[in-house]
Amino acid sequence: MCGIVGYVGYREATKVLIDGLSRLEYRGYDSAGVAVLNGSGLKVERAVGRLNNLAIKLKEHPLTGTLGIGHTRWATHGVPSERNAHPHSSQDGSVSLIHNGIIENYRELKAELQAKGVEFKSETDTECMAHLVADCYSGDLLKALHAALTRAHLRGGNALVVAHKNHPDQVVCVRRGSPLVIGIGKDENFVASDVTALLPYTRRVIFLGEGELASVSRSGAKVYDENLKEIPAHVETTDLSIEAAEKGGFEHFMLKEIHEQPTAIEATLRGRVADSHIDLRELNLDPARLKQVKRIQLIACGTSLYSAMVGKYLFEHFTRIPTETSSASEYRYAEPVIDKDCLVIAVSQSGETADTLEALRLAKAAGAQSISICNVMGSSIPRLCDATLYTRAGPEIGVASTKAYVTQLVGFIMLAAGLGRIVGATTEAAERTLVNGLKQLPEQVKKLLDSDIVGVKRCAKRYQSVFNFMYIGRHFNFPTALEGALKLKEISYIHAEGYAGGEMKHGPLALVEGTFPTIAIAPKGKTREKMISNIQEIKARKGVVVVVATEGDQEARELADYLIEIPECLEELSPVLAVVPLQLLAYYTATQLGRDVDKPRNLAKSVTVE
Ligand code: AGP
Repeated sequence: MCGIVGYVGYREATKVLIDGLSRLEYRGYDSAGVAVLNGSGLKVERAVGRLNNLAIKLKEHPLTGTLGIGHTRWATHGVPSERNAHPHSSQDGSVSLIHNGIIENYRELKAELQAKGVEFKSETDTECMAHLVADCYSGDLLKALHAALTRAHLRGGNALVVAHKNHPDQVVCVRRGSPLVIGIGKDENFVASDVTALLPYTRRVIFLGEGELASVSRSGAKVYDENLKEIPAHVETTDLSIEAAEKGGFEHFMLKEIHEQPTAIEATLRGRVADSHIDLRELNLDPARLKQVKRIQLIACGTSLYSAMVGKYLFEHFTRIPTETSSASEYRYAEPVIDKDCLVIAVSQSGETADTLEALRLAKAAGAQSISICNVMGSSIPRLCDATLYTRAGPEIGVASTKAYVTQLVGFIMLAAGLGRIVGATTEAAERTLVNGLKQLPEQVKKLLDSDIVGVKRCAKRYQSVFNFMYIGRHFNFPTALEGALKLKEISYIHAEGYAGGEMKHGPLALVEGTFPTIAIAPKGKTREKMISNIQEIKARKGVVVVVATEGDQEARELADYLIEIPECLEELSPVLAVVPLQLLAYYTATQLGRDVDKPRNLAKSVTVE
């Protein structure tokens, strides 16, 4: 989710680049940089931290020139630092390149280039492509980019923009899985990762298609297919407002982020589920130390706590190592039993939650091994841990966590199965089945979102004025019930309670009547029959039931007042799919009540106070 801007025209490029990058601020960034071409070649300036740090450096050391490329980084490989900031350059400085996405096969590329004597200056995957383009260059910049892409057998979702010191009137670019748009101005032209950066200058845009390349000069832009055959450039006029563009055309960041979940899951899986096994080499885990682990303790807050509750079931399922999950704020005062045979996993979208941070410090002080699952590279919690599995959901702006949650679940599944293989508790066959299931998730979530889940909207409309919702689930989907309830209450302000289905008859059943619905999460799996019994008990007491069931479940269809179907999947993967309709139920209920969905009252996106 990096921000990209390129410019060729008559203005001072630096100003256009900084202005454009500042409009991509909502994409989040931890470092930024520009490369500008003038008589003395390609000049690069980069800075770690917020964009303003770069602007200050450029005020002190101005770069002049009317061609340039600029980038704000959301780190995926290599911690936030100036040396890892884009643009990245070839060894001879002839090429500058910026990149949005993940190059899955960068390790092999880097080794190949290093074997040829190329010296790398950064830890990023991107730098490989700057060296490759320079290596393939023999006068034609577009051909050099195309040759580099071919030689790299580039895998992953990527967008690249390249400038060369010998081409004062040309930048070239390619879209391969990450969006790129070209802005058509008067005697000036632009490239950007999304329309937001272009709107002050032009509304005439070309949305590059998948696999397409483009050559952009001051006088115009040409578009090519993946075989470098020129194709018609389809110029359209966008009527998006800047605010709408930041939200990708969605009304709220939360809805945008719910719809980003397929690509967020894809990005989190990328490079980690090669062929039929889980590849977590990036974590540099020490198998010998991990084999000493006798207990696993998961610590987190809020939505992250609920993904960690699913994580408990996953770790015990795949590793057979006793695992417990604690609210970080409780863990700190519960006098937890921790020693060197303990593996503590801290889960946090922001990486800055105070309670989780303090609980982690407590565990580390007692000698535990530590891993984090986090969405913000270089944030405080990962910096304290022995290793971090980064969820690559991109910046999550809405206070209500959605895409971070599902990517945390995917992270737990990979970590648990990967550890299960290390300790010998998970078979190769089971891992293969799991990996196949994981690879289907993005498409299954997309199918759910494309179906627009009519039952959800009808239920939201019907029950927007009730004062209570009950959510029930079992085993892997008990935490789903808790998360569904949290989503609803934190953005609609309606009270909602998540409960283990088996607990209903121990008290909560007394609440059941026709004035509010119970959401019953009952996908295919070993607890489905018991959930069907729960539903029957509620119906027998005139209760209303919204059932989340696996597609084709006829019995659920006959029992449900509202039926929400999810695609069939492995039981341990079902929390990823089951939560999506619950996110939408909360969203549509809250919007119908006119709530401030992205900034609900009393809450903050990151709770950095205890
Ligand atoms: C969830 O929608 C809330 N935004 C909140 O519960 C959040 O999950 C919690 O504060 C933990 O934040 P973290 O994941 O950044 O640590």
